Amino acid sequence: MRFERSGALPGDVEAVVIGVPSDRLDAVGAPASLLEAQGFEGRPDQTATVVREDGTTQVYVGVGPSAQLDVLALRRAAAVAARACGRRRSAAYTLLDLVPSEDQAAATEAIVEGILLAGYRFSRYRSEPPPPSLERVVLAGAPSVADDDGEAAIERARRVAEAVALARDLVNTPGGELTPALFAEAAVEVAERENLRVTVLGPDEIAEAGLGGLLGVNRGSLNPPRFVELSYEPDDPEGSLALVGKGITFDSGGLSIKTAEGMMTMKDDMGGAAAVLGAFSALAAVRPRCRVSGYLPLTDNMSGGDATRPGDVLKIRNGKTVEVLNTDAEGRLILADALSLASEARPDAIVDLATLTGAVEVALGNRIAGLLGNDQHWIDEVRSAAERVGERVWQLPMPDDYRPRLDSDVADLRNISKTKDAGTITAALFLREFVGEGIPWAHLDIAGVAWWGDADEAEMSRGGTGWGVRTLLELARTFRAGR
Ligand code: BES
Ligand code: ZN
Ligand code: ZN
Repeated sequence: MRFERSGALPGDVEAVVIGVPSDRLDAVGAPASLLEAQGFEGRPDQTATVVREDGTTQVYVGVGPSAQLDVLALRRAAAVAARACGRRRSAAYTLLDLVPSEDQAAATEAIVEGILLAGYRFSRYRSEPPPPSLERVVLAGAPSVADDDGEAAIERARRVAEAVALARDLVNTPGGELTPALFAEAAVEVAERENLRVTVLGPDEIAEAGLGGLLGVNRGSLNPPRFVELSYEPDDPEGSLALVGKGITFDSGGLSIKTAEGMMTMKDDMGGAAAVLGAFSALAAVRPRCRVSGYLPLTDNMSGGDATRPGDVLKIRNGKTVEVLNTDAEGRLILADALSLASEARPDAIVDLATLTGAVEVALGNRIAGLLGNDQHWIDEVRSAAERVGERVWQLPMPDDYRPRLDSDVADLRNISKTKDAGTITAALFLREFVGEGIPWAHLDIAGVAWWGDADEAEMSRGGTGWGVRTLLELARTFRAGR
């Protein structure tokens, strides 16, 4: 997609997008009667289209109350309008008219991001090409932002949207195709393009490193596991941040097998690893001042002839032993190894993303991720980064008196709670056992938000969401050790 900037409204576009605040319906020169007939009140997600005699279309998009017009509202409105443009190939966006001059660069970034995210398609397996959509967008009426700033904003938005698209593509690629080896290759490709350091451990090296959780989960599979480490190193780094992502390329449940229904979307069980890789692919565009390391344990969870059996005991990298009583609680086993390894490098903070529990979707639904951790300051930073980019999170508690539910009769821990309640919390309490002493750690349970099963809506398309990429980029961009 091409983006241009222009002070004046161009004459050669098929659509003109006009943002309408709900308290200024009359201010945009819109034909009030026409809008009214379409029930248009300028509320978020509302659109009304007017086809003019010369064949161009005016797309009115609601942005809500003008006092609440922030980057989130702009990004959403831009996305909604892009969808409303349908099969038109070119559009002029005049949303910047609503934005004071000092905010125009940030607004440009949000608008471009919204348009690109709404334009995402996963069509690799279609024999018919997808219907045409916007190809050229003119951001009109932005004379107040310097050319360089405007172009830089567009470029940043493009890099971020491509990072989200990479994560979505990885999630949408079927589990039978995206093996751990192929995922690792994708990571190496990103690393080579972005000048990141990368190491890929295969099965022998994983065994040597004592990653017993990853090996145990992999035992029922014909696809060998991988463990990918990525690192981004700025000049004179200030502090270090570790990103950990659950990379189950398909979760059948193992011998504690899932139902047919429960398995249908389980190619998304590497959504955490995909978000981390997506973030690494665009780190250079946000220029973090800290060192950033990524840890991706990759395997599928299958039920082959020598699969881990309920009752088996695994030894995790940090020396703790785990009695596996349910092979479907596999994410925490591979994350245990990854968190142990990440901790050994003594980063200033760790954040992990994992499609960890069905319980989080019961509690918070498919629009809000669960947030837990061991350090309230760090949790607050993660929360505020997520809020700034419009990825919604809600914190759940870590009650110490729930910890005995993970006591095992034969090992240091069991991998499922003794009770059926509080599944998201007990999973996080399990993970906490593998975070190094004194390291601030936050955990995002993205099982509900990594997959969008509803109709396409604004920036969201059906399938993988790429949830977390933008939060991680914002977190890395603003990270300061010891705050
Ligand atoms: N990958 C699943 C969690 C999941 C569920 C992700 C639904 C996305 C949508 C995870 O490995 C799992 O199976 N968790 C079990 C844990 C239980 C056995 C303690 C669950 O949530 O049922
Ligand atoms: Zn599982
Ligand atoms: Zn899983």
